[in-house]
Formats: sequence, C-alpha cells, structure tokens
Amino acid sequence: MRLSLRFVLPLLLVLAGIAYAVAPLVDQLTLRWFVRDLEIRAELIANTIREPLQEQLAAGKKAKVEDFFNHLTQDERVYAVGYCAAPAGTVLASRWLPAQISCANLDQWEGPGDHLLPIAQGPLHVAVKPMVSEATPAGRLIVVHDMSFVNRRSEETKRYLFYAFLGLAAVVSLITVVVAQLSWRGWMAGMRSLLRGEGLLRQPALDAPPDLPGFKPIARDLQRLIHELEAETRARDESQITWTPEALRTILHGELRGEDVIVVANREPYIHQRRGERIEVQRPASGLVTALEPIMRACSGTWIAHGSGSADREVVDKNDCVKVPPDNPAYQIRRVWLTAEEEAGYYYGFANEGLWPLCHIAHVRPIFRSSDWAQYVAVNRKFAKAVVSEAKTKNPIVLVQDYHFALLPKMIRDELPDATIITFWHIPWPNPESFAICPWREEILAGMLGSSIMGFHTQFHCNNFVDTVDRFLEARVDRASFNVSFGGKPTAVRHYPISIAWPPDASLMEKSVPECRSSIRQMNDLPPEHKFGIGVDRLDYTKGILERFRAIERLLELNPDWVGRFTFVQIAAPTRSGIEEYQHHESQVRAMATRINGRFSRHGPPPIILKIEHHESSQVYEYFRAADLCFVSSLHDGMNLVAKEFVAARDDERGVLILSEFTGAARELPEALIVNPYDADQCAAALHLALTMSATEQRDRMRLMRGLVAEYNVFRWAGRMLLDAAAKRRRSWLADKPEIPTV
Ligand code: G6P
Repeated sequence: MRLSLRFVLPLLLVLAGIAYAVAPLVDQLTLRWFVRDLEIRAELIANTIREPLQEQLAAGKKAKVEDFFNHLTQDERVYAVGYCAAPAGTVLASRWLPAQISCANLDQWEGPGDHLLPIAQGPLHVAVKPMVSEATPAGRLIVVHDMSFVNRRSEETKRYLFYAFLGLAAVVSLITVVVAQLSWRGWMAGMRSLLRGEGLLRQPALDAPPDLPGFKPIARDLQRLIHELEAETRARDESQITWTPEALRTILHGELRGEDVIVVANREPYIHQRRGERIEVQRPASGLVTALEPIMRACSGTWIAHGSGSADREVVDKNDCVKVPPDNPAYQIRRVWLTAEEEAGYYYGFANEGLWPLCHIAHVRPIFRSSDWAQYVAVNRKFAKAVVSEAKTKNPIVLVQDYHFALLPKMIRDELPDATIITFWHIPWPNPESFAICPWREEILAGMLGSSIMGFHTQFHCNNFVDTVDRFLEARVDRASFNVSFGGKPTAVRHYPISIAWPPDASLMEKSVPECRSSIRQMNDLPPEHKFGIGVDRLDYTKGILERFRAIERLLELNPDWVGRFTFVQIAAPTRSGIEEYQHHESQVRAMATRINGRFSRHGPPPIILKIEHHESSQVYEYFRAADLCFVSSLHDGMNLVAKEFVAARDDERGVLILSEFTGAARELPEALIVNPYDADQCAAALHLALTMSATEQRDRMRLMRGLVAEYNVFRWAGRMLLDAAAKRRRSWLADKPEIPTV
C-alpha cells in the first residue's frame, strides 16, 4: 500500500501541474471564440435593423430611435446600442452606452482586434458597423455586448477541466495501482520460485487472477522458453559441478526440496549372517550394491530389499528396519521377507533363469515357467506394498533397481500416482526379436512404463528398449526426444552410465603398491618379479571366465616364454548356486583351470590360480594394486564396474586393463586394450602386449582412464537422474494446468 501511495502522489502532482499550466490557455481560447461570435452577432443585428432604423432616421424621430435601441437592449447580452450619423455629430444611443464611446473615436473599434472595453462590471465588446444611406454616407451603428458571461463561462470551463483532470488522475492511479500490485505479486512469486530453483511458471499464486484463454499461447511460449533456458542452465551447471556426495545432497535438498529417497533393489547392501554364536555382517558381490551404497550414504532414506541373511530377522526393529552402515549409520534397510517358494519362483526362476539369460546374449537358453511368473508378480506386489508403507509423502522419489522388479513401477504408480519413479535396468536390453520369446513381454513392458524415467547404461540399450515397446505395445513413441507415452502416462528413456565412488575409500588404498605387490606374491607363492594378472567376477556364465582361460592357454601356446613367468589369479564369488546352469558353469571353470594348469605347470607356478570364494573389497583392492594387468572378458555386460575399480585402485598409474568390447565400460574406457572375448588369438595378443607394455604407455593410458572415472563417477550418475527427475516434476506441474482451448 505504501508503495502504491509513493507512486500515486507524484502522479497526482504531475496532473495538477498540467491543469495549472493549461488554465490560461483555456481563458485565451474561449475569449477568442466569443469575440468572433459577438462580431457575427453584431453584424446580424446591424443587418436586421438597417431598414426600420433608416426609416425612423429619415422621418427624424430621434426619440423613437432611442426607444427602439432601448428595446434592443432587452436581450440580456446586448448592453447598449448607438448610432452616429457623422464623426462630428452626437451619438443617438440606448441607455448605458459607456461615456468612453463617442462619434469622434469610433475608428478604434473598427477593423481587426478584440475591441474590448473594460468597465467596473466587467469587460464589454464594442462592434462598429457601417449604416450608410444617401443622406448619411458616414453613418455607423454601435453595438455593445456585455462580456461578463464570457468570464463566467471561462470559470465554469476551468472548473470542469479541473474536475476532469481529477477524475482522470483517479482512474489512471487506480489502474496503475492494480497493475503494479499484480505484477509485483507475480514478480515476487516468480522470484521466490526461481530462488527455490523452479521454473517461473511452476504454479499459479493462490490469489492470482484466473487463467485468461487469450494469454495461454503466450504462456505456452514462455513455458517452452523456460524449458530451454533450464536445459541450458543445467548443461552449463552440470559441467561446473564437482560430483561429490555433497553435490548430490545439495541437488536432493535443493532441486527436490529435501525429499527422502526410497531405493528398491532385491539385494541388500549389508547381510547379517549367523556364524555360531556371532553375527557377521557381509557385503555382497554386486555391481549394483557397489554403485548404490555410496549414494544412499550421501542421501539417507530407505533401501527396501529382500532380507536374505540367516540373522537378518534378529537385528531388525518392529518395522523390519535396520540402520546401516553398522559402524556409522546413515540410512536404513527395510527388509522384505520371502518364503522359499517365493524366492525360488521370483528370484531363481523368473528373474535369473528367465530374464537374466534373455537380456544377456550369452547363449544360455532362458527358461520361462508360469509358476515362476506367478511368484514374480506376487513378490513385485509385496515390494509395492512396502514402498507405499515407507512413503512419507504422496509424491516420493522411488529408485527401482533392475530386472527383479519390472512390474513394480506400474504397481507403485497405481497406488501413488504422483510419485517420481526412476527405474534403472542394470543389465543389457536385447533387440525386439530376442525379447519376443518372453511369454509375458507385454506385461513386462507395461510394468516398466509405469516409470517416470527408464534408465539404461548405454544409448544402444535405450534404442533396443524403444524398438521393443514400439513393436509390442500400443504406445506413442517419440524417437526425437526418446519419450514414450503409454496409457496417457509419459516415460523418458535415458542412458546414465553407472560408475563407482570417486575417490575410492581411503581405507582401500592404505597399503602402498609395492607392499601389495610383495604381499600378494608371497600369499600366492609367486616369486617377487613374477608377472601376474587378475580377474574378479561373480562366477557367472556371462562374465566369460572360460573364454578368459582359453585366451591364457593360447598365450602360452603362442608365447611359451611366459610359461612359469606369468600367472593369472581368478577371484570368483559364488553366486546363484541354486541354479543348475550356475552349478554346471562352476564345474566347467574348475575343470578348465585344472586342465590348463596340468598342461603348463611343469616349470614353476601354475598359469591359473582359481579362488572360488567371497573376498572383501579391501582384499580385492590389494590384488588390483599388485597386478600387472586386469582382464575383463564379459560376453555381455551392462557396464562392468570391476574395470572401473581396477582403474580407481591404480593411483601409481601403472597396470594394463584388457576389456571386452561387449561391456558398457568399453564405450567409456577406449584406452583399455579392447578385445573380443570370443577371439582367443586376439585376447592372447592383448595379454602379450599388456605384459610387455612400457611404463610410459601404461601411465598415458591409465591417466586418461582415471580422469574419466573421476569425472563420470557414481555421484554424477545419481545426480543426473535426480536432476532429470526434478525437471520432470516441474514439467508435470505445468502439464497439469488446463489444456489450451482450441479456437
Ligand atoms: C548383477 C545384477 C544385480 C545383482 C548382482 C549380483 O549385477 O544386475 O542386480 O545384485 O548381479 O547378483 P545377485 O543375484 O547375487 O544379487
């Protein structure tokens, strides 16, 4: 209000000033108009009375003439009338003819000019008109008009003018105040939402005027402009962000306004196992867990997972939750309990005998059983219930992980329509022909499209997914923007290459590289200068362990000099051992290692040391730091974080990475020696090259790879998804506004 007055008062003063300046002009103007009117009037009077006047003059009736003139002055404006026969004569006049007028001075009232005569009662107008006849060729009529009415009129006009300006000022002020108030509020709301990191048009202020259809096209253009600006700002900002846990927290609390994150993943990050009297905490061998755990430490929230440890039930609270990490709690695990049948059908069956081989081109036939499918549906529903019970708001951010939960996004969406659901598929997505063999392909795709964002590691997998949706669902697929709309719900399909925490935990790097080299060699009975390579995987047929061993055999065939001088240590974490295919694979791996060792162990240490057991991260990092090379030979892998962990472990910038071209990581780490694991000769050549590579070349390659992993770390992976989720939330708020009516 004070602001409005500050604006209105000067406005009123300005208008009053204008009125004051205009008033004299009004006086002059009205006077000129009236003088012209009186001249015309006098002319009219002269013409009208000419004949009767001349008759009376000719008859010499002076008294009659004066009566006639007096009669004329009854008109309220005619003040006096007079007649002069000659300049030297006396004036014949009505009453009131001013004494200043005489026949001798009539010249001054003739011709151009205002012809005003001021007297005490007010100004008079004097008009002198010729009134000639044969007898009086110099006769002149004098008509005097009272001009006081002009003054009255002028005063009135000024008064009207004043009121008009006053009214105008009031109207202008009112309009100005209203417009100023509205734009101030809008501007303030805009500023507030900008400060909150939202687009300008996020939500209308509660007291904003109703939407005017006429403005909607403008609003739409503005929205588009804001989206573009936001995208530009984000791109610019992202390049300037140093991706740390702190940066991630800032995004979560700033962009998403402090909302809790709910992660759903089948595998839990901490498994409590009973060992006699003691309860041990185990960290599972899982790339997914490696990537997500630092994110949860940074963001807190809840990780919902299958409680699979033998002592898991003993440590949870009444809500089935336990705070982790045990030594420094930062978030909680909510455990979901599964029956043996559920685990068999959902986890071993549909997820790992069906979807896992379906998505990995590893030449293992997928097995689909309808009983497994029924358990898969039931367990997804069980997890959906857990999500709903953990959600603190009606629009939580839910991060759904992997192929165990293809149906979960839609189930959550049905219960919490406003949730932001980001689903990440950690394994490859096959082409439509391969996917077509799944009997429940439509249900799986529809389930996944309950997500707001559907993430894969690579653009190639996004392409395959979009092709598959296009082939099997009645969905609108926009290939330019990679957005899919199914059942009226939009899903953005995006690639986010996963990574590891950077820098790696200091405790993993405590032991120096020379110490690691000597301790690992001692531990494995290898001489100090013995060359050795490392492989770390789950014992899974997709990892190409058999192909790796074949390549080592080929190296020794082609370069027998390495026999007894080179050993490959394969750490293989037991996994999914309830599945026949995995049992078969384990026996194949064991047999091949034995065969090759039998063939080449005559002189010194064996070429292959196979360790089929669980290793903690600290032990794995010690191996990485001690090794001359690391060999990742997956037949098909979404990303493969072992490759990135090896690079992270080598702060001495030494060691060579040999990497399968069929991993997502190969797209990010071209400085590795990229190989086709099915080509044993090529892999053998790569092994030889790695073992003979100069220190300088090792450093050049390792430095580039370390730079990439540092920059594209897991905080960036999660941060990018959360930023996209935040932008999507803002967009959906805008999209909820009423449609623009068509005209
Ligand atoms: C892959 C999957 C993860 C899984 C991990 C370990 O990386 O993408 O979802 O957790 O393998 O497998 P497991 O069956 O032991 O959890």
